[in-house]
Amino acid sequence: MHTSSRLPRNFQANALTVALEALRTAGEPWLDLTLSNPTRCGFAYPEDAIRSALASPEVLFHEPDSRGARPAREAIAAWHGHSVEADDLVLTASTSEAYSWLFKLLGDPGDEVLVPSPSYPLFEWLARLEGLRATSVAAYYADRWHLDLDAIEAACGSRTRAIVVVNPNNPTGHFLSRGEWTGLTALCARRELALIVDEVFSDYALKPAPDHLPTALEDADPPCPVFVLSGLSKVAALPQLKLGWIIARGSAAKPLLEPMAFIADQFLSVSSPTQTAAPAILRLAPGIQAQILFRLRANLDALDEALAAFPQLSRLPVEGGWSVLVRRPTLDTDEASALRILREARVLVQPGHFFDLPSEAYLVLSLLPPEAVFRNGIGRMLFYGL
Ligand SMILES: Cc1ncc(COP(=O)(O)O)c(C=O)c1O
Repeated sequence: MHTSSRLPRNFQANALTVALEALRTAGEPWLDLTLSNPTRCGFAYPEDAIRSALASPEVLFHEPDSRGARPAREAIAAWHGHSVEADDLVLTASTSEAYSWLFKLLGDPGDEVLVPSPSYPLFEWLARLEGLRATSVAAYYADRWHLDLDAIEAACGSRTRAIVVVNPNNPTGHFLSRGEWTGLTALCARRELALIVDEVFSDYALKPAPDHLPTALEDADPPCPVFVLSGLSKVAALPQLKLGWIIARGSAAKPLLEPMAFIADQFLSVSSPTQTAAPAILRLAPGIQAQILFRLRANLDALDEALAAFPQLSRLPVEGGWSVLVRRPTLDTDEASALRILREARVLVQPGHFFDLPSEAYLVLSLLPPEAVFRNGIGRMLFYGL
């Protein structure tokens, strides 16, 4: 049977997944330092308030609006501030879906989007499934991460349609600097590209640089079309509610709202109960975020304390987000190191190459696990060696 060439050629599990499955089959426990599902991290969610938000009488009615229910859009606009209005928004079922709609909007099959790497590994497949190509352009690390704007411009070709950045980035935690923002928007304007800015982690600033850009929304009228993405999966740590959104920012983006609404109208994919609950859920978000921020800081402190006894190891600064990069001597590949840590220490971590990190030197840890799990996992990992 013919299947689309947009799909992977095979679905073979990678070596780490195979090793994990072997532990599972043997009934062996392990500590998961890749945990990124906030609903499994022991946070005290306001359960009654979440249930009652989802139980209002309105959840029994369906009044489709291709851009998403207006009260939900108004609440999201108010949450963001920065003069965002309900009419600037299109709701989606997730940030991933937001990407797929933007790729449909901006590209034809064979076109390309540029993505500074290291970054979130899903882009390659989200683009390919829309018939587009995601081309990585390496960022570089020198005291902090830097976008290589000259390399991005050199990579722009006649089929390039957009640049995708994540602010702060996953997994590096890098916030764009104001200089990078000015350079990027000018580059996009020169090359007639759209700029997609994924800000799902923007509420989780930890130690941002003084010149960081907390949100692209600070720029009310950028010189190119800008689309800012976010969603409840990180804003309220409720990925199961399946609500994301796209904010069209600036006069160059506004004309694209109508074609985007046309795409949204073909799917109407956001559930009515979720849209109805969104305003109440957003009121709960600060309380949930405060717990997560506390956890991120506590785990980072625990890591620093543990690494102090291992001068050959270090971690990179984390400006924001839910993960941290640990740097180790490259005596073997990052995959061999992650496999060894899993088999010997019974701790699951991710090798940096999953995120296109530029060498074998990095392991990626989630800062979200419960503090006892994180501390124990780090201790075991360091005892057995990286
Ligand atoms: C940078 C980034 N964007 C988007 C997402 C996915 O968000 P959603 O659950 O809204 O699709 C993630 C999930 O980890 C992410 O790391």
